[in-house]
Amino acid sequence: MTASSSATVTAAPIHATDDVSAPVAFAIPDNVFAETVTEVRHYTDRLFRFRITRPTSFRFRSGEFVMIGLPNAEKPVYRAYSIASPSWDEEIEFFSIKVENGPLTEHLQKIKRGDTVLLRKKSTGTLVLDALLPGKRLYMLSTGTGVAPFASLIRDPETYEKFEEVILIQTCRDIAELKYITEMVEGIKDDPLIGEFAADSLRLYTTTTREPFTHMGRITDLMQSGKLFSDLGLPPLDPETDRGMICGSMHMIHDTKAILESFGLVEGANNKPATYVVERAFVG
Ligand SMILES: Cc1cc2nc3c(=O)[nH]c(=O)nc-3n(C[C@H](O)[C@H](O)[C@H](O)COP(=O)(O)OP(=O)(O)OC[C@H]3O[C@@H](n4cnc5c(N)ncnc54)[C@H](O)[C@@H]3O)c2cc1C
Ligand SMILES: NC(=O)c1ccc[n+]([C@@H]2O[C@H](COP(=O)([O-])OP(=O)(O)OC[C@H]3O[C@@H](n4cnc5c(N)ncnc54)[C@H](OP(=O)(O)O)[C@@H]3O)[C@@H](O)[C@H]2O)c1
Repeated sequence: MTASSSATVTAAPIHATDDVSAPVAFAIPDNVFAETVTEVRHYTDRLFRFRITRPTSFRFRSGEFVMIGLPNAEKPVYRAYSIASPSWDEEIEFFSIKVENGPLTEHLQKIKRGDTVLLRKKSTGTLVLDALLPGKRLYMLSTGTGVAPFASLIRDPETYEKFEEVILIQTCRDIAELKYITEMVEGIKDDPLIGEFAADSLRLYTTTTREPFTHMGRITDLMQSGKLFSDLGLPPLDPETDRGMICGSMHMIHDTKAILESFGLVEGANNKPATYVVERAFVG
């Protein structure tokens, strides 16, 4: 369903009224798509994923983000979200945090199949293959919901056309938070479109910091100690062959950038491709 400016949807009011059960209709703002939720899955009390219909005219590059909101106010709250599905997918997938009293996610976490989500019409971002120089091995380094843009890129055949090896890394506090990406990578090998590429090229390395697990510790510490590379059976980072993409909190990005740069990698952008790129997974 694509919105026109005159469309309205009914939604639960976010401000109390005398009759709290009365649905309130808000006009769909101009310049957004109004899309329908097709699937919701909760992983923990802090994480869920959802899928929405995709407008035919909405184009994006795998790894980009877009602003989303809910039709629950005259002036909806919009927040940046990495698109977790690849650019060829007929639907759009997001992997979301649930922030207590968060202006968007206190409502977004309650969405159900059939509900409406607003989508701004233009996507953007730097975690795209075009912002990297050609290389042999691509490291995708993430914490928490920072894995979302990589969920898109690991399902895009172009990633495997450009890189022989793709190493996806996610550090979370506990094992349950790793489930979204772990299940996806397990399933990818059977995917008719990308299974063949991914089976030979994609490796997932997950770590926890607050619950015992196979691999433990922050990804930054594991790179600095060299344990990441010895666990993977790979040499340390080499700017001649290796490329990096980073997505996490501001602190994680700060620390991970310093490590990549200590190995000689250089930050790139859409208009100046180089050997690594960065995007914040959230503000704060
Ligand atoms: C480029 C970009 C891409 C983003 N992509 C995603 C995404 O794919 N999935 C997603 O869940 N969020 C993503 N975010 C964060 C998102 O924009 C919102 O901040 C988040 O949905 C919470 O919205 P809110 O209004 O409920 O709370 P906000 O007022 O936005 O945030 C309140 C506080 O919650 C914490 N917080 C916010 N988002 C997160 C998060 N993702 N993980 C951990 N703590 C968080 C921060 O401490 C923040 O100060 C992205 C942010 C940016 C800048
Ligand atoms: N139940 C709850 O209420 C609850 C639970 C979790 C988070 N939160 C809040 O939610 C927000 C975000 O939490 P989050 O867990 O998604 O993100 P986070 O705090 O950034 O942690 C995600 C993962 O990244 C690691 N990490 C943190 N800083 C790093 C750095 N500089 N370099 C490398 N790795 C780093 C963390 O390790 P460490 O464990 O070593 O920090 C953790 O494993 C925080 O404000 C937090 O207080 C609340």
